[in-house]
Amino acid sequence: MKIGFIGAGNMAQAMILGWRDHHEISIFSPNTGLEAAAELKVEFKPTEELATWADLVVVATPVDALEEVAPYLQQAKVVVSVLGGISLKTLRSLIENAGLVRALPNVNVSKKVGFTALAFEKDFAQVDTYLDLFNQLGTAEIIDEDKFAAVSAVAGSGPAFVAGIIQSYAFSAERVGLDGTTALKLSLQTFIGTLFQMPVDADLQSVADAVMTPGGSTEQGFKSLKNSDINDVFQQMLQATIDKNNSAE
Ligand SMILES: NC(=O)c1ccc[n+]([C@@H]2O[C@H](COP(=O)([O-])OP(=O)(O)OC[C@H]3O[C@@H](n4cnc5c(N)ncnc54)[C@H](OP(=O)(O)O)[C@@H]3O)[C@@H](O)[C@H]2O)c1
Repeated sequence: MKIGFIGAGNMAQAMILGWRDHHEISIFSPNTGLEAAAELKVEFKPTEELATWADLVVVATPVDALEEVAPYLQQAKVVVSVLGGISLKTLRSLIENAGLVRALPNVNVSKKVGFTALAFEKDFAQVDTYLDLFNQLGTAEIIDEDKFAAVSAVAGSGPAFVAGIIQSYAFSAERVGLDGTTALKLSLQTFIGTLFQMPVDADLQSVADAVMTPGGSTEQGFKSLKNSDINDVFQQMLQATIDKNNSAE
């Protein structure tokens, strides 16, 4: 497909890295676009040209740039918005004719192991085509728009939280006697190795059980984890993210 991007920041670049081997890609962004196009080995096109050239235009700008960009999207065939908190209804109020898709990817799409939530207008004719397109970036699922705030916190912001959780694990490893470099290396390799051998539908209790001898030391540590307030800590982290997103809408 011919895919145009308006905005070439973190999210656009992650999607481009995931798609560029299979699709023709052009980008526009006002200040860093030329440099990003050269780096990513894709074309740079002015916005007016991009909208008519592309089969779909991905809008990946800050939310407050939408009104400025909208006039250029009137000629587009399909507009895919990744803008946090912007509903299909709001998009339709600004864009008259194009087919509209709301997408919520995370940056893991760059390595084709992302998660993307998708929402379509009722009469959108190419649902299967767009599900296939986003499944090329990892896993994509149709999700009700009223769940997007929670998905945004769990999966969109998730890579930052996972990094933070591993930092805390490494910090704890230091506290029980390892030096900083070893603690971080061991923690990272343990997370990467454990997740690498796990299917997405893994039975997590079985994964834990496979490491735990009944009455042994791992079981003792696992009990300590489950008896802690870690679930509350994670819930607070997600709720704080959702609350901040809601306050920006
Ligand atoms: N990052 C994530 O993990 C993530 C996850 C889900 C959704 N999103 C959504 O993705 C969108 C982009 O996020 P990001 O993290 O990629 O932001 P970013 O790294 O700050 O990039 C923003 C891009 O938009 C361009 N831009 C700004 N104003 C513009 C305008 N008026 N016309 C055209 N381009 C314009 C910038 O251009 P210049 O650099 O040339 O100035 C830059 O290339 C946001 O709406 C966010 O809600 C992000």
